[in-house]
Amino acid sequence: MTTILETSPAIKTEIEKVAEVAGYLWTKGWAERNGGNITVNITDLADDTLKNMKPISEKIALDVELPYLKGAYFFCKGTNKRMRDLARFPMDNGSVIRICDDCKSYEIITDKPVKPTSEITAHLSVHNHFVGKGSDYKAVLHTHPIELVAMSHNPAFLKKDVLTRLLWSMIPETKAFCPRGLGIIPYKIPGSVELADSSLEELDDYDVVMWEKHGVLAVGDDILEAFDQVDVLTKAAQIYIAAKNMGFEPTGMTDEAMQEMSIVFNLPK
Ligand code: 13P
Ligand code: ZN
Repeated sequence: MTTILETSPAIKTEIEKVAEVAGYLWTKGWAERNGGNITVNITDLADDTLKNMKPISEKIALDVELPYLKGAYFFCKGTNKRMRDLARFPMDNGSVIRICDDCKSYEIITDKPVKPTSEITAHLSVHNHFVGKGSDYKAVLHTHPIELVAMSHNPAFLKKDVLTRLLWSMIPETKAFCPRGLGIIPYKIPGSVELADSSLEELDDYDVVMWEKHGVLAVGDDILEAFDQVDVLTKAAQIYIAAKNMGFEPTGMTDEAMQEMSIVFNLPK
């Protein structure tokens, strides 16, 4: 059987990036068991070979209608699949789906009938939102970074932009490379429409949002860019925790130093 990796070099490149990031998530300890999920919008890369493939599943109903995703193609991590396995065997632990013309269901196209992540509602709602806005964002990452999730157990950190300011002030690069900061989503049941809807609201202002006591969701032009933003935020969290473990409250960069960063690096906030 020919696989999508053999027939489409452009899609192969994106799936290889997914595999690379899946490996990082596992080695960082952010991906216990099947923890976390990745989807990438590959519609612009879909060639005739992909478009002529017959579905290998029934139509599977979605919980939401996605008017901007009619006929769109996505690579999705499979539900219950491990990041460490996705890293080595992406087409055994993920699949390419196509959104049906009713915009309320999808079919699995290739290579194997691996059912997409249980967070598909949030992922596809986010993609639908960005396509509707004409955004270049193509990748959505959900992962369980230890330090950031730990910090979300402190109610003081959940007030608007408290955590963003704290993390930005730990090391200048955080603001430079995660310039829109970290949005906060109060706890919602995983996989729910409510979690998807509240993520959408925050993603107009932030590229990374915290799902309280669960994990983060990040977006980017590609999956490496989404990963990098979570990585820089987590580094800042680790610096904060290292200082606390040495027995002192870190001073953080001054307001003047942070303002200077915004001017010199031409940052939005
Ligand atoms: P899936 O295995 O269904 O992707 O779920 C993992 C997860 O992190 C749910 O929030
Ligand atoms: Zn999760």
